[in-house]
Amino acid sequence: MLRDRLLGNPGFQRWAARFPLTRPIARRRAYRLFDLVAGFVYSQVLLACVRLRLLERLAESPRTAEQLAPALGLDLAATRRLLAAAESLRLVAARRDERFGLGDLGAALLANPGVLAMIEHHPLLYEDLRDPVRLLREGGGGGALQRYWGYARSGAPDELPAERVADYSALMAASQSFTAAEILDAYPLGRHRRLLDLGGGEGAFVAAAAARHPELQFILFDLPAVAERARDRLAAAGIGGRVRAVGGNFFGDPLPPGADVISLVRILHDHDDEPALRLLRTARLALPKGGTLLVAEPMAGMKDGAPIGGAYFGFYLLAMGSGRPRSEAEICGLLRQAGFAAVRAIPARGALFTRLIEARA
Ligand SMILES: C[S@@+](CC[C@H](N)C(=O)[O-])C[C@H]1O[C@@H](n2cnc3c(N)ncnc32)[C@H](O)[C@@H]1O
Repeated sequence: MLRDRLLGNPGFQRWAARFPLTRPIARRRAYRLFDLVAGFVYSQVLLACVRLRLLERLAESPRTAEQLAPALGLDLAATRRLLAAAESLRLVAARRDERFGLGDLGAALLANPGVLAMIEHHPLLYEDLRDPVRLLREGGGGGALQRYWGYARSGAPDELPAERVADYSALMAASQSFTAAEILDAYPLGRHRRLLDLGGGEGAFVAAAAARHPELQFILFDLPAVAERARDRLAAAGIGGRVRAVGGNFFGDPLPPGADVISLVRILHDHDDEPALRLLRTARLALPKGGTLLVAEPMAGMKDGAPIGGAYFGFYLLAMGSGRPRSEAEICGLLRQAGFAAVRAIPARGALFTRLIEARA
């Protein structure tokens, strides 16, 4: 293709980098390309900042490298090296008198405990991604992520003991805050009576929905050991009376009846097509005629070009050994195959990570 030949031509690249009208575009493209090349290093700088609690320390008050070094357990040269790296990534920012404070990205990160928890979780993913070609050739599973997500490829997920679900359930709860807000902003649950949150984890989404909709009742369904955690958490939050937490396996057990809306939040992408379709059929049968199903998760091929669906979840789920991110069109197709009608994508309106699809039983 002419465009590809032109963009790859060194003479054209040199010209575009000098010519005033193309210079900013050429520079943005070069930096974006370098970001692709060096992204894994940025992630390790980020991990060092998080593990050493650098951002929390700077949020207390701006500090110099000399003041930070003993608290970080690093010598002065290493502290300066980390600060320079973090400054170039806008995690920290230089202030007066050789002090450093939070950079704009550092401040945003600190406000989001879910993202901090994901960063601490990512070493497992790096481990599995060490040889991406092998991962693609041999298929995922069998590595650190499959062990972490105990239900992935498990023949008996409902027998997982409490200690095998604790870490992933806590991670999901921590990262639910931005997901729940995006879903609840986009879809008015107030028109419903009772929501069944299928694979509802330890109840963070239900708790957020309960806070917004005081009239709504809830059923949460998840693996027995996870439902147990949900019971404790929801009781501690003072909403145990509005939520029935039911333990079971959504691939084998009947779903609790009585809901007029079912949500699948970050569930479908965990499963390959055949079980995903089975799950959708089970959900349809648990709804009254005209009842609503909501699918909410990061999706592939997002129109704004965000790489989260295709690149991040594509490889994350590959490593986990189960599921894949699907596009809106693919999920709509599965829903129709499962017998749902009036299938539609709900406009994202500012949502960054989660897309929503609604369908009627
Ligand atoms: C990625 S987590 C999402 C949790 C929650 N919806 C959220 O967004 O925070 C997937 C959830 O599905 C549950 N799950 C997986 N397989 C299941 C099964 N066969 N039956 C019931 N729940 C299952 C897991 O225990 C986990 O809580």
